[in-house]
Amino acid sequence: MKMKKLEDMQDLVSLCKRRGFIFQSSEIYGGLGSCWDYGPMGVELKRNVKDSWWKAMTFREDIDGIDAAILMHPQVWKASGHVDGFSDPLVDCKECKARFRADKIDLSAPCPSCKSKDSFTEPRDFNLMFETTMGPVKDSGSTVYLRPETAQGIFVNFLNVQTTMRRKLPFGIAQIGKSFRNEITPGNFTFRTREFEQMEMQYFIKPGTQKEAMEKWKEIRWKWHVDQGLTESKLRWHDHGTELAHYADAAFDIEYEFPIGWDEMEGIHSRTDFDLGRHAEFSGKNLNYVDQADGNKKYIPYVLETAVGCDRHILALLCDAYRVENPGEKEERVVLGFIPKMAPIKVAVMPLMKKEPLEAVARPLLEKLQTRYKCEYDVAGSIGKRYRRQDEIGTPYCITVDYDSLEDNSVTVRDRDSMAQERIKLEDIENYLLTKLGF
Ligand code: GAP
Repeated sequence: MKMKKLEDMQDLVSLCKRRGFIFQSSEIYGGLGSCWDYGPMGVELKRNVKDSWWKAMTFREDIDGIDAAILMHPQVWKASGHVDGFSDPLVDCKECKARFRADKIDLSAPCPSCKSKDSFTEPRDFNLMFETTMGPVKDSGSTVYLRPETAQGIFVNFLNVQTTMRRKLPFGIAQIGKSFRNEITPGNFTFRTREFEQMEMQYFIKPGTQKEAMEKWKEIRWKWHVDQGLTESKLRWHDHGTELAHYADAAFDIEYEFPIGWDEMEGIHSRTDFDLGRHAEFSGKNLNYVDQADGNKKYIPYVLETAVGCDRHILALLCDAYRVENPGEKEERVVLGFIPKMAPIKVAVMPLMKKEPLEAVARPLLEKLQTRYKCEYDVAGSIGKRYRRQDEIGTPYCITVDYDSLEDNSVTVRDRDSMAQERIKLEDIENYLLTKLGF
């Protein structure tokens, strides 16, 4: 059988719209640049991703979760360096007014948009933080920022978590939440957006142990992406080497080979004591850790951070899962081959026709199965069309109730990948799915 993987991102954008994964934000008003809404299928996929990350990170002895506010004291962003340094170099084309990141284009070449020569302004720094005002009076004293990373919510809660949870080093704090960056050149679907979700974990460690912590977390995080179903040969490491952010002494990215090329999906950063040190300095609070295991030595913990974009990981899952079987032929079918844990819908229940007595068998079956799984009940259209729809949303199993079911108390279970069909007794269905899905 011939098979084609995703080559053009536009094919995925179309599937995501047609099957309810991702819609353009405010579409009926013409859309809002680089903002996207997750539809009914997308939201299930996102929930599966977040659940999987949350379990991997917090169902362990040494990590607690939090959910910090998006709006934080403006001093947080002074201390973190974001007010003064979280900027990209920006150039404008004087002819067509298009804007570019100066570090992403060749400034000696013509404008990529209008092809004018020598038309760029001098690069200037553009801060990526979104500002808003708090309270009824709009003055400079009321300026607050939409957080550009979730990490700072963790740093400012270090002491709260350490004391309430009676933590000793090493321990971690995990968080999932929205971040906002006024990106100069967002795009490529949900790859770079101005509002996105991050899944970050800060692991607090003894200074001097950052190398072994880096090795340990690199291994854990790589395995997580593979366990999510991503093709391992489409993953690779990028070592930042000496090109490091102001807070880091080492950094590695896990990159995925998107149809637009290799790019970052997760960053694993050794952040030293920069953040806690700066918050101690700016807040005046003592953030020293007293190491009882080392003669009550006092020090600011170092931090090993794992930071993955939830939306970017979802985009990788969608790209990876997408395949066209028998492209261009009569039997062409598009499949999202998610692993069952990631599939938005686990089981589709389909009476052959929207008629009694078929529905009298199908509905109770649905009710039984949806106490455990997210299911769909589909009665519209031919069975062939219903299968194609489930293939395109990645449903691992479809169960058809037909007229024979009324006689033999059995149903047809169809496997998404092999398309093989099996007759299974109604009383055995739950065990069958448990074995096949693995949960
Ligand atoms: N606290 C560290 C931090 O935020 P980052 O490398 O800037 O590090 C981590 O971001 C991850 O967040 C990235 O690897 C990416 O997956 C995701 N991310 C960052 N900016 C994004 C954007 N504009 N749109 C979508 N995802 C983004």
